Amino acid sequence: MSFDLVLFGGTGDLAWRKLMPALFQAFRHGNLPKGGRIIGVGRDEQSDNQYRQWLKARFDDVELAKRPSPEEFARFAELIAFQRMDLSRPADYPLLAARLAERQADTVVMYLATAPSLFTTVCEQLAGAGLNTPRTRVVLEKPLGHDLASNRAINATVGRVLSEDQVFRIDHYLGKPSVQNLFALRFGNALFEPLWRRETISHIEITMAEELGVEKRGSFYDHTGALRDMVQNHALQLLCAIGMEPPIAAQADDIRNEKLKVLRSLKPWTPETLQQHVVRGQYARGSVGGVAVPGYLEEPGVNPASTTETFVALRTEIANWRWAGVPFYIRTGKRLGARDARIVVNFRAVPHAIFPVPAGVANQLVINLQPKDGLELHLLAQGAHKRGAANQGLPSLSPVHLDLDFDSRFGSERVGAYERLLLDVIDGRLNLFVRSDEQEQAWSWVEPILQHWQADPQGPRPYAAGSWGPSASSAMIARDGYCWHEEA
Ligand code: BG6
Repeated sequence: MSFDLVLFGGTGDLAWRKLMPALFQAFRHGNLPKGGRIIGVGRDEQSDNQYRQWLKARFDDVELAKRPSPEEFARFAELIAFQRMDLSRPADYPLLAARLAERQADTVVMYLATAPSLFTTVCEQLAGAGLNTPRTRVVLEKPLGHDLASNRAINATVGRVLSEDQVFRIDHYLGKPSVQNLFALRFGNALFEPLWRRETISHIEITMAEELGVEKRGSFYDHTGALRDMVQNHALQLLCAIGMEPPIAAQADDIRNEKLKVLRSLKPWTPETLQQHVVRGQYARGSVGGVAVPGYLEEPGVNPASTTETFVALRTEIANWRWAGVPFYIRTGKRLGARDARIVVNFRAVPHAIFPVPAGVANQLVINLQPKDGLELHLLAQGAHKRGAANQGLPSLSPVHLDLDFDSRFGSERVGAYERLLLDVIDGRLNLFVRSDEQEQAWSWVEPILQHWQADPQGPRPYAAGSWGPSASSAMIARDGYCWHEEA
């Protein structure tokens, strides 16, 4: 099957940091279908060869194991071409049409790694140049809009020129092997299903912590913030994966229908819950990994009086029969104590304790997403018996855990998120992409938080870089009698 992959934003950050390295890995692993062509699109005139040379130099910044040897790059470069285009100029689109007409690839993928403000223009112009054929697939990077209205506007324009099954809305978390294993855990194993409900689970934590600050994306981030950047998409997708019902099959719409039901079941916000169940923070100076780092307001590109949040913690519930009353806590932030993404499923304590158990300790299933990728099952066991201990000689139970490390188990067999997702687009598999109604539902759920913040004079709470966010985040979960997993 031949394909043309047109990379709008071909000289941009995402292209050379993530997409080209992922395409190269797919090529190296022999997964890229034969007969492919990758056309980088950029504003400045350059030849195919100049673009290849530019790209070759960019690979020097890629981690060593993922860097091509000169021979490998020479073979990979044969697939690569360049097309100059100013995306805001309708007259430039026929240039791309001519390039694509050089051959009739079976599939034409248009990857919009551009500013989201260009999405509607590009889609309309593609249609204007007759490039929205049944062979066309469009990939849209997040953020798709700034709020519900702008998201709907983009989806409406895209929907006028392409059918829904031609649109691949990327959420790279869904491409992570660890997230796929979450689906495997839930729907490929019978073990946990009977326990996956309100009767046995007390609460669930979803943490996505980063050590990094805003890096060079200060001005983008300052208009975005953690709620739009991480919660509206990645965190809610994880919540769906944990909370959804088993789909009837692994077809894209079977999965997406179930995720949509979770999003529609999220408890609506009230003035009280907005006040008590959402915490926003902004990092101040501090130290991460022993290195002093500046505060958010000192970062390049950031407005020194900015009230943009770099941290969010919130509590929600899925109001349905399976989950009614079970709190789901979400927490994400930049410049936190460690790079750590994990989901902790906390089980209820035994209904009647005959052994002495340390306070607050019960079974937990910890789903490590990154940097570790694996599962830990926390159980209680008896250690050494000490004669004369309290409670008629019964020693108290101690926590022990079973530890499954997917990285060492599967190691090099695994493919990275972007590699997986790019191959899925080329093959036309929509399972791991977000449907427009799902995305709109997620926006409508975060919208009241955005509105509440706009009207709230308090602004984000400062936290020291390298900490775990403002103390209000621990206080929020403590009001329910719990604490975040790393604080246990
Ligand atoms: C992106 C956000 O979607 O995800 C970034 O825009 C964030 O701000 C990144 O750093 C985190 O992804 P990962 O894969 O490093 O956890």
